[in-house]
Amino acid sequence: SDGTLKKAFQDKFYIGTAMSLPQIDGTDKKAVAIIRNQFSSIVAENCMKSMFLQPQEGKFFFDDADKFVDFGIKNKMFIIGHTLVWHSQLPKWFFTDKNGKDVSPEVLKQRMKNHITTVVSRYKGKVKGWDVVNEAIMEDGTYRKSKFYEILGEDFIPLAFQYAQEADPNAELYYNDYNEWYPEKVKAVIKMVEKLKSKGIRIDGVGMQSHVGMDNPSMDEYEKAIVDYSNAGVKVNITELEISALPSPWGSSANVSDTVAYQKEMNPYTKGLPNEVETKWEKRYLDFFGLFLKHKDKIRRVTLWGVTDKQSWKNDFPVKGRTDYPLLFDRKDQEKPVVQKIIKLA
Ligand code: XIL
Repeated sequence: SDGTLKKAFQDKFYIGTAMSLPQIDGTDKKAVAIIRNQFSSIVAENCMKSMFLQPQEGKFFFDDADKFVDFGIKNKMFIIGHTLVWHSQLPKWFFTDKNGKDVSPEVLKQRMKNHITTVVSRYKGKVKGWDVVNEAIMEDGTYRKSKFYEILGEDFIPLAFQYAQEADPNAELYYNDYNEWYPEKVKAVIKMVEKLKSKGIRIDGVGMQSHVGMDNPSMDEYEKAIVDYSNAGVKVNITELEISALPSPWGSSANVSDTVAYQKEMNPYTKGLPNEVETKWEKRYLDFFGLFLKHKDKIRRVTLWGVTDKQSWKNDFPVKGRTDYPLLFDRKDQEKPVVQKIIKLA
């Protein structure tokens, strides 16, 4: 194929991908070649989350993260760290004492500080941007009742940003979340941004994960969110983009437990996408990239959540064992036709 994504977007924004372990350790050779050719930015899909970096208190495991960062440096990529403070993929020791009870605010603060300082310092000057806090706000604008929130209240957010900033004053710092177009959520995220700024704490960007489906969100509500964040004085990062081609199980009245009928309904395209579905899916990607280009002055980076359909987490989320087609490269590591169409848009 002719052009590459990296070349097409070089004067617009970084174009990135998440890297899974088989790509970081080099066994998924074809995907690694695609990453080198096509992308200017990388983020680790899992290996820099707290349960992997610090599985036990004080026992850090950096082998995979080091390989990931070395790959990015070697290939002159904009490297993103994901993620410092998140309620999920968080080891239980982080917020409990020897008896399994919640620790005091002072102890949790100390553990957060130690984790953030150790990790950010190790990659100082190499990792250029951090998802400092992930998924702290709900769709209705309230704070998620995570252990961080329960023990420290909303202060855990400014504290996390402060620790990250102290460890690497030159790294960009982001707040990252999903469904970041729900109006109440947009308002709450902007309020949080303003609060940080009023305390003199730097936040450079908001990350819109963008695990989207065929119909939701509408382009209008998604565009409004980009504009609103930008007006609040932060850059917008599209951090985990993929477009699931499968029906959304959210709100379905069907029973998610493994009934045969439900599995069939939720996994209709095991032998490939029908033409009309593929056409709709392509248009959806082109609509999104059209929007990113229209707002390129507001957007720092667009990152896909993976390279090929065969390794996408969407095959197992939110329902296990589906055959999804959400990414830009297929199960045989081939570039899909939509890639050259996206490149033409640029
Ligand atoms: C997902 C990974 O893709 C999976 O491999 C893992 O099992 C669970 O986490 N929001 C995030 C990402 O911020 O870290 C998540 O990644 C997807 C949702």
